[in-house]
Amino acid sequence: MTGTVLGAPAERREGRQKVSGAARYAAEYTLPGRAYAWPVPAAVARGRVTAVDTSAALALPGVLAVLTPGDAPRLAEPEDATLAVLQNPDVPHRGWCVALAVADTPEAARAAARAVGVRYRTTPHDTELTLDHPDGYEPEEANGGYPGRVRQGDPEGAFAGADVRVEALYRVPPLHNHPMEPHASTAHWDGDRLTVWTSTQGGTVVRSVLAQLFELPEDSVTVVSEHVGGGFGSKGTPRPDVVLAAMAARRTGRPVTLALPRRHLPTAVGHRAPTIQRLRLGASPDGRLTALLHEVTTHTSRVKEFVEQAAVPSRIMYATPHLLSSHRVVPLDVPSPSWMRAPGEAPGMYALESAMDELADALGMDPVELRLRNEPDREPGSGKPFSSRHLAECLREGARRFGWADRDPRPGNRREGPLLIGTGVAAATYPTMAVPATATAHALPDGTFAVRINATDIGTGARTVLAQIAADVLDVPLDRVRTDIGHSDLPPAWVAGGSMGSASWGWAVHEACAELASRLAAHTGPLPVEGIEVRADTSGKADADSPYARHAFGAHFAETAVDTVTGEVRVRRLLGIFAAGRILNARTARSQFTGAMTMGLGMALTEHSTVDGAFGDFTEADLAAYHVPAHADVPDIEADWLDEDDPHLNPMGSKGIGEIGIVGTAAAIGNAVHHATGIRFRELPLTPDRIL
Ligand code: MOS
Repeated sequence: MTGTVLGAPAERREGRQKVSGAARYAAEYTLPGRAYAWPVPAAVARGRVTAVDTSAALALPGVLAVLTPGDAPRLAEPEDATLAVLQNPDVPHRGWCVALAVADTPEAARAAARAVGVRYRTTPHDTELTLDHPDGYEPEEANGGYPGRVRQGDPEGAFAGADVRVEALYRVPPLHNHPMEPHASTAHWDGDRLTVWTSTQGGTVVRSVLAQLFELPEDSVTVVSEHVGGGFGSKGTPRPDVVLAAMAARRTGRPVTLALPRRHLPTAVGHRAPTIQRLRLGASPDGRLTALLHEVTTHTSRVKEFVEQAAVPSRIMYATPHLLSSHRVVPLDVPSPSWMRAPGEAPGMYALESAMDELADALGMDPVELRLRNEPDREPGSGKPFSSRHLAECLREGARRFGWADRDPRPGNRREGPLLIGTGVAAATYPTMAVPATATAHALPDGTFAVRINATDIGTGARTVLAQIAADVLDVPLDRVRTDIGHSDLPPAWVAGGSMGSASWGWAVHEACAELASRLAAHTGPLPVEGIEVRADTSGKADADSPYARHAFGAHFAETAVDTVTGEVRVRRLLGIFAAGRILNARTARSQFTGAMTMGLGMALTEHSTVDGAFGDFTEADLAAYHVPAHADVPDIEADWLDEDDPHLNPMGSKGIGEIGIVGTAAAIGNAVHHATGIRFRELPLTPDRIL
């Protein structure tokens, strides 16, 4: 190995294509005769479609068809019930697709969708999440396959008898992913062969789902996702757009593009479910936790069970003899929640790390010191040793770089005119996972190499990082390696999700390249004209059980200024220090960390979706109402990492980095706001109306 390729700040291979507009996204495949589809969202929160009048829509110029629940192509029953679109007249929530207009142009399709007359029979709806909702229940499992409840010792008793106690409720509202590129798909049938160009985090899964729904052999379905403009989890599973585009193409005999308008995203592609989190921390006067209780209440839709696993990080973070971490979920007449960056950890660590700050306050102890004092030697929830855990080092290094030692611990004590200034800290964690994948590595007679795998680059730099892994193993310059990704003809691999893309795909690439390198070493004379190609499949390796608890860790430090006149909170400085195994590309890694921290800043200060109780739908449906941070909101933001050498992960020694940056950011900012003002706010986001 050269040792210089892996970890180098290599530039994204497709960067020039993207900034010059040459990179093609799913809606930009201009097939001859292509038509456009536009969905009709349900205008009621719960009920049944009793009639669909398509006559006015069909009379408009350029309109080809209107698909309705009564006449749309029938699908096999999907595993994911959100994909059973136009299969029956039931309306499980407002925004559910009740018809689909198809026309020669997007404008004609939109006009037709508006001209469709839908009649409903409504039933009363309920969209309000409350702690004591009678329909709430404790699920066996929360998302990710985690047990819904973990209980050790006598948490209630230990809390009742603790010398120092903190008890608080924290609320995180529904949040939306809103990737730059809204969900879009172009579908084309050639007899019984289906090809889709779709914006997804994983084309292999899209292919198998479409094959199942349309009852086709998998090799009759081709899925192309060459470039994807972000996803943050909302493209982690196939969405209605790809199914509807394929239905519309089948009906009209034309290639059809369905680009979801942004205003349709909130109800159609998931959201982070809101959580109400009850935290109880008990400690001895020296700051050692004696009890930790984290109870999460969240919602799901009537379509499927989805349980945001927000209490799970409390099983990982701190040593305590008595632990309770549980989930309760309430099915409501709301759009289906789904994956959003660091599902579970992002809201859960907001609550836990805010409560830790409250405990530090109650103890009169420095919040960095409190965390150091509660470092566990084993993972509390499982008893497993950590493969590596450098949270303490992240906290110390962050504190040093941030200048934490100079902090006056008294809240409300730093004033600049109308501004109150404060600093805060919070920890971060995210699990390190991998799943099996397949890759080929090909040595060509001209001395170049090709690596092929159906990975997806959602903007992260996956294409580039996989080339770095290959070049490193093959010990050749980076520009001699080509990577082909984003096409279902390539060897199958799982999604860009769970922060495990690089680990999963890279593992297969690593194996294939290692095998190719040894074949080449044994080879004498020139290569055959077709070169030498090897294939690797990491089944049985990437999914093998580990005796270790494997997680990445980090620490965030924030400085905020709170305007006592306007109630505005501005973040002045944000520093994240991470321990995430071997960093494979310094440039794209930094971008992942700071991107996620920016998303955490949005979660802290501006982002929220409101379920309108009267209409049963989200009030904030576009980027004018759902406020993601703009450049002016993103101040001095810095991310860095410790060199961490963990031999228990994968051949690269990497942990996932896509999500950990958002974990704990909002707590660090909230804790800084408390330090600035002396007031605890326990509901996000920290908008001026709450601050004043
Ligand atoms: Mo991420 S929410 O696992 O795509």
